[in-house]
Amino acid sequence: MIVVFGGTGRVGRQIVEQLRHEGKAVRVVTRDPASANAVQGVEVVAGDIHDRRTLVRAASGAEAIVCTIQGGDGKGNNGPKGIEGSGIPSLIGIACDTAVENFVYISSASARADSPVGFFRLKFEVERLLRTSGLPYSILRPTHLMDTWVEMLAGSITKKGKATVLGSGTSPVSWVAGKDVARVAAALAIHPGEGWSADLGGPEALPLTKVNELIAASLGLRINGQNKMPVGMLRVMSPLTRPFNEVLARQMQMGALLDTQPQIVDSSAVWARFGEPLSLSAWLEVNRPRDREGV
Ligand SMILES: NC(=O)c1ccc[n+]([C@@H]2O[C@H](COP(=O)([O-])OP(=O)(O)OC[C@H]3O[C@@H](n4cnc5c(N)ncnc54)[C@H](OP(=O)(O)O)[C@@H]3O)[C@@H](O)[C@H]2O)c1
Repeated sequence: MIVVFGGTGRVGRQIVEQLRHEGKAVRVVTRDPASANAVQGVEVVAGDIHDRRTLVRAASGAEAIVCTIQGGDGKGNNGPKGIEGSGIPSLIGIACDTAVENFVYISSASARADSPVGFFRLKFEVERLLRTSGLPYSILRPTHLMDTWVEMLAGSITKKGKATVLGSGTSPVSWVAGKDVARVAAALAIHPGEGWSADLGGPEALPLTKVNELIAASLGLRINGQNKMPVGMLRVMSPLTRPFNEVLARQMQMGALLDTQPQIVDSSAVWARFGEPLSLSAWLEVNRPRDREGV
């Protein structure tokens, strides 16, 4: 049984689909099984990262645990301090107690001890804890996901005809498809953990301006101007916004990283082992952006 904590999320759901495709028995852990949009044919159980009792129950009999839970989009106790700072360390402790043979953690290529963003410092601490836990592990560190960014950028193009540009818009990023991250995570979940860690970036490094152009082309739309948020503005606005909207304040901090920590990642060794990743153009061909209110 492979237990996926966060198996209802953007990446988690695709990991579950891949595991089912491989014929594996999967248990998805969610806070709300009744309304969870879980993949057909999996066991769905209740579990909250803050409730040890539910975690122990959910993890029982696991040959592997996959953790894709994140606090980056959450507030209060479901923000980074509650999730990465305390909840995921607690789950790692439970995995140690029950001698799970494989723990796959989805981190981020931005996770660093000295990141200016607290969320990424906490993700780095989770990585450190897992590396020193004695558990057999795999850590995936994806760059920015096509899935998340296309959805956000497409909203602004569709509604306002404008390209959203955080920072200069010229720093290249090795955007990666959630489906490719999921494919690697599923393969690692199936085999015993081996103390493996890798940054995961897609096959081409593109600046935000080019990403906006490709999204507009896939929608058959023209871009008429930019909705610009320079780094200086993001840095000033983030602390001012925090008392009213901690999630938006965090997103602004992360947006500033596009210029200050560009993410060009060479993951060719990973793809040589697990199969070629999708380019953004190929991803857009099969994932037409949803019509959504822009930022
Ligand atoms: N999105 C990106 O651009 C990006 C880039 C790099 C790395 N990553 C990393 O990739 C991983 C997956 O990201 P994602 O975008 O797929 O995440 P997501 O869609 O936000 O999914 C988060 C999951 O966490 C679960 N969750 C949240 N709070 C919980 C709690 N208190 N107890 C139990 N479960 C809880 C949710 O389950 P329920 O709501 O069903 O309970 C959901 O399944 C994360 O580690 C993220 O940091 C993401």
